[in-house]
Amino acid sequence: MAASGGTSYRNGATSRNSLKLDKPFSANSNPKSSLKSKSLPNSALRRSSPASLGAAKDDGAVPGRVRVAVRLRPRNTEELIADADFADCVELQPELKRLKLRKNNWDSDTYEFDEVLTEFASQKRVYEVVAKPVVESVLDGYNGTIMAYGQTGTGKTYTLGRLGEEDTADRGIMVRAMEDILAEVSLETDSVSVSYLQLYMESIQDLLDPANDNISIVEDPKTGDVSVPGASLVEIRHQESFVELLRLGEAHRFAANTKLNTESSRSHAILMVHVKRSLKGKDSTLSSDIGGNSHLVKTLKPPIVRKGKLVVVDLAGSERIDKSGSEGHTLEEAKSINLSLSALGKCINALAENSAHVPVRDSKLTRLLRDSFGGKT
Ligand SMILES: Nc1ncnc2c1ncn2[C@@H]1O[C@H](COP(=O)(O)OP(=O)(O)OP(=O)(O)O)[C@@H](O)[C@H]1O
Ligand SMILES: [Mg+2]
Repeated sequence: MAASGGTSYRNGATSRNSLKLDKPFSANSNPKSSLKSKSLPNSALRRSSPASLGAAKDDGAVPGRVRVAVRLRPRNTEELIADADFADCVELQPELKRLKLRKNNWDSDTYEFDEVLTEFASQKRVYEVVAKPVVESVLDGYNGTIMAYGQTGTGKTYTLGRLGEEDTADRGIMVRAMEDILAEVSLETDSVSVSYLQLYMESIQDLLDPANDNISIVEDPKTGDVSVPGASLVEIRHQESFVELLRLGEAHRFAANTKLNTESSRSHAILMVHVKRSLKGKDSTLSSDIGGNSHLVKTLKPPIVRKGKLVVVDLAGSERIDKSGSEGHTLEEAKSINLSLSALGKCINALAENSAHVPVRDSKLTRLLRDSFGGKT
C-alpha cells in the first residue's frame, strides 16, 4: 500500500509515506471510538467519501502521499468467549475497500481505506499489499515509511516485528522487507545499514546498545535530513545477522503486561534502514581527431549514488486508561504514549489535508520522522 505518486522532496528525491493501521476484530472493543478518536486523523479515515487520503485526487495535489490500510486480527480465545452472544459490529467489505461499523440495528458508519485486510489475511499478503511497494521505492532511492497505528493489543508488533523463527509464514514486515532489500542489492557495490531505536517517555534509546541513552536528533538545516548520530549504525550483509539484531532490539524494548495485552509495547520502536546503491555511470565513446588521425576516446562516468531510507515504526498502542488498567508508572507511560500519538495524528492530518504546515516540533516522535513526512516545514 505504498504511495503511487510521491512528493517532490529534497534533491529531487521523493518522499513516499505509508501508514498502516491495525484494528481488533472484536465486537466488544468499541472500535468506533478507537477509529474516530485519539490521534488518528478523521481525514485519514474516509467516511463514505471517495476523496483520496493524503492528497485529494480532485484538488490537483499529488495522490497517495499517505496511504492507509486496515487489518483486523482474529479474535483471541477470550474474545471468542466474550463475544459469543453478540452480533459482529465490524463488517469488512474488502472488494469495496470499506469497513462498516454497526452502531445499532439501524445505524452504521462506513469508512474507506486504501486496503482492507481481513482476519484471514496472511503475513505474506499484508507485506505484499502494504510494504512491498514502499520497499521497492526505497530501492529506487526514495524515502519510505511504514507505520502501524492502533489500539493496544490489535497486532501492530505481530504485523511488523514477528521474526517467524518457528514458522517462516509468520515473518513480519521488518524481516520480509530486509529479505527483499538484500535480494536486490549487490554487496560489492551497495551498502545496507540499520539503526533500531525506541522512543520511551520522550527519550530516544538505542535498542541495539542500551548504553546509548537520551540520543539527540540532528536535523540538517540545508537538506532537512534527520539523523541520530548517537545511535549504532550496523551494516547488514546477511539476513541472519539482521534477524539477530531484531531479536536483540526486541529484548531491550520496554513491554508490560496490561489487561489488554500481556506483551504490550510501552515504547515506539523505530527501525531505520539506509540503502546506498551505486549505479554504474554509462561509459560513452567519443570520436576525436588528433593529429589528423581519428581516435575513439572512452570517457568513464563516475557511478551515481542512490540513497533511500526505509523507516518502519511500531507504535506503542493508544489505550483507554480505564480499559487497560494502567496505573502508577504504567499510567505515566500511557500518558506519554497518547501524547506523542496525538502529535503524530496532527502531522498525518496536516499531510492528509496537504497543509503547508506540518507541526513536527510537537514531539520527538514527529521530529524523528520529519524527513519521512516530506517537505521542510
Ligand atoms: N494477525 C494475527 N494473527 C494471530 N495472532 C495475532 C495477530 N495479530 C496479533 N495477534 C496476537 O495478538 C496479541 C497482541 O498483538 P500485538 O502484541 O502485536 O499487539 P500490539 O498492537 O503491538 O499491542 P501494543 O500496542 O500493546 O504493543 C499477540 O498475542 C499476538 O500474537
Ligand atoms: Mg506492540
